[in-house]
Amino acid sequence: MPDAQLISPHGGTLVNRFAAPADTDSLRADAGNLPSITLSSKQACDLEMIAIGAFSPLTGFVGKADFESICLNKRLAAGSAWPIPITLAIDEETKSSLSEGGKAALYHADGTLLAIIDVQEIYAHDKALEIPNVFGTEDEAHPGVKAVMDEGEWLVGGPIHVLTVTPEHEPGEQFTEHRLAPAQTRAAFAERGWKTVSAFQTRNPIHRAHEYLCKCAQEITDGILIHPLVGETKPGDIPADVRMECYQTIIEHYFHPDHTMLSVMPGAMRYAGPREAILHALVRQNYGISHFIVGRDHAGVGDYYGTYDAQNIFDEFEPGEIEVEILKFEHAAWSNKAQGMVSGKTFPKIKGDQVFLSGTKVRELLEKGERPPAEFSRPEVADVLIKWATSTVGVG
Ligand code: ADX
Repeated sequence: MPDAQLISPHGGTLVNRFAAPADTDSLRADAGNLPSITLSSKQACDLEMIAIGAFSPLTGFVGKADFESICLNKRLAAGSAWPIPITLAIDEETKSSLSEGGKAALYHADGTLLAIIDVQEIYAHDKALEIPNVFGTEDEAHPGVKAVMDEGEWLVGGPIHVLTVTPEHEPGEQFTEHRLAPAQTRAAFAERGWKTVSAFQTRNPIHRAHEYLCKCAQEITDGILIHPLVGETKPGDIPADVRMECYQTIIEHYFHPDHTMLSVMPGAMRYAGPREAILHALVRQNYGISHFIVGRDHAGVGDYYGTYDAQNIFDEFEPGEIEVEILKFEHAAWSNKAQGMVSGKTFPKIKGDQVFLSGTKVRELLEKGERPPAEFSRPEVADVLIKWATSTVGVG
């Protein structure tokens, strides 16, 4: 095993749900005679995550026992930690075309045949169980809640047999060079001789606070995997292609190439704060990392979650249930007095000393073609964002 030194995947085995080449012709031929399900963009992201083993030990969309156990206990029915149900929701009409024990063909919205699912179970989508447990709120203004509210009233559970995760007509093959599956990141770590690897999840450009977290993690591990989420995000978030340019720019100028790797995670954001932090950690374990960064309000949105809820939730698990070491960081910012990045742990708060900028303020500056202060964002990153922001609003 090239990665024998690395952490084991969650549940022990790295799943691979791509059909064997010898089986693909017969699967394609079968698909034509099967009922079809067109996947939403979130479901297509989930399909890819299952296929490549990022959601190991899941081999398909969850059945009822797992759904309930995840919602109530943050664990699969068999006992391993799992915080968010990965579901295949369908509407009444689609349900009437399916039968338990049968199969269905799964299509991308552009018509590409992606996979076949063994329809083991069809069960009612208990949104009243899922939403408050997973999101801690039932407010439809929460983007994750809204997404589940809008989904179908039935769920299909069963293993999948995947033909491709690359739609023919949409830019699904984005970031091909950086779209490494867990087996590939593991091989890359082994090749570099990394035994301990920290991972940084992000859905934003890397600003100085993010960079500080990454650098701290680098000090105690062999390398860092900068691992942006590039699957579905909410309107208003910065597009993944713009962010990728920011990541490449900051790495080029401010990171050590021997101890830094960039790869993308094709998962969808749920904005489920604490529960999503657990999902993010388990998924990164599958990618082979040993340490996972959780800072302030990880995967949060608005003010639904407390600043450190996403750190505290890990205390609900027994030692060993989550094998990745969680690197918990307090709110970090530039201190003018200390002339460096500080956190609540490293430097006392002095009124007016730290450089804080709201997302709205940053957007305003960028749209005017102005760089945020260098204490907040590296100028090279700011310039990438200015190029995007000014072209988006037609200014500049
Ligand atoms: S997230 O949805 O992926 O969590 P974001 O990209 O902003 O959003 O954050 C990436 C990681 O950096 C998360 O672990 C988050 O908690 C952490 N983080 C972001 N800003 C700060 C900050 N100023 N101080 C400490 N941690 C931060």
